[in-house]
Amino acid sequence: SGLVSLDYGYTNTGSTKSQITFVDGEKGILRYRGYNIEDLAAYTTFPETAWLLIYGNLPTREELGTFRRLLTENALIHENLLNFFREMPPSAHPMGILGAVVNALGLFTPRFYDDESKQDAFNLTVASLISKVRTIAAFSYKASIGEPFVYPDAEKSYCSNFLNMMFSSKAKPYNVDPLFVHALNVLLIVHADHEQNCSTSTVRMVGSSQASLYASICAGICALWGPLHGGANQAALETLMNIHQSGLTVKQVIEKAKNKKDPFKLYGFGHRVYKNYDPRAKVLKGLVHTIFDREHIADPLLDIASELEEAALNDDYFIERKLYPNVDFYSGILYHAMEIPTNMLTVMFAIGRLPGWIAHWKEMHDDPLSKINRPRQIYTGYAERPWLPIDNRG
Ligand code: CMC
Repeated sequence: SGLVSLDYGYTNTGSTKSQITFVDGEKGILRYRGYNIEDLAAYTTFPETAWLLIYGNLPTREELGTFRRLLTENALIHENLLNFFREMPPSAHPMGILGAVVNALGLFTPRFYDDESKQDAFNLTVASLISKVRTIAAFSYKASIGEPFVYPDAEKSYCSNFLNMMFSSKAKPYNVDPLFVHALNVLLIVHADHEQNCSTSTVRMVGSSQASLYASICAGICALWGPLHGGANQAALETLMNIHQSGLTVKQVIEKAKNKKDPFKLYGFGHRVYKNYDPRAKVLKGLVHTIFDREHIADPLLDIASELEEAALNDDYFIERKLYPNVDFYSGILYHAMEIPTNMLTVMFAIGRLPGWIAHWKEMHDDPLSKINRPRQIYTGYAERPWLPIDNRG
């Protein structure tokens, strides 16, 4: 084992070459396929950015038209799967439902399952997954509140369709607010890829055994769920709500986060790669202020977040460790304004991250150098022990 180098948490181990996403953590730069995240957030829609990540270039009008058509045509999920939503307890976490249903989708589409490398079948699978993930998210919500499902509407865009499936009902028609559609586009775009993060590495790891795209994405969803990764957005919003409702002060929260004996962290702060302000957090902070000012929304959670950020950025503990707000710090406030329930925030992250996962799965499969991922270890157990009959043990 002398030849094996040890790198807990892979802080400095490159697992692949990649052309998809560039991150400069010192300068706070994020680019997808060479385009700055700020430009993509300002000028593209989520389906355009998804195409860019997966296929390498911004789509032409024709390509985008075809992609949109495929998204529209593949938004529905098999009716048999609807029972799954109905059978889950209303309190079931929507990330658990999302992972299970995405995995099950592979069982309902056997013709793509074995055929993913063939271009047309792959394109169809991609559009189908990106479209259906939204339907799954909205249906799990409707089932949890005991309301009938609202089916996708072929006339609506990607984001407005999702909001409509979530909030429209026979009893109360829902007018999709164009400002929220814009916000949702930006939110999904800034989440769309982030090179070899935990969930993306998981998708590559599982895919490296030649498991199907569905199984690989399901694994990515499970990896994203944890509070150190995508689950941090739910935890961050809950921290703000706790401060608001329980009378906990900002100072107390900061002290709690600094106390190593307390497992609590300041969720939405810190990053393995960014040692500067996360550019995604910058985009979202700007967006939340623009929308709240324009709509005259007064949300105490935003005031608390601003206070918390300022206190942390001026505290030696956070300064010494270069801990800045990350993408999960402000996203929750925006989703809260749209009335997306708190336990669905990580599902929203997954909808955004899906094109990135697919892009990496495809890049790995297209790369002749890729191999099954199989890290080594340094064994620290017993060298060899004599066999012990059961009566001699204990
Ligand atoms: N609150 C309090 N202390 C922190 C935090 C935090 N949010 N983040 C890091 N630290 C401390 C950590 O305890 C360690 O202190 P010390 O050097 O005294 O042991 C030091 O800062 C370095 O942190 P680390 O945990 O060794 O860094 P890492 O690169 O292994 O972890 C991280 C990165 C994102 C898991 C971590 O910063 C964290 O737990 N943050 C909170 C969870 C979170 O917001 N996650 C979302 C990340 S961005 C979106 C995504 O990737 O999903």
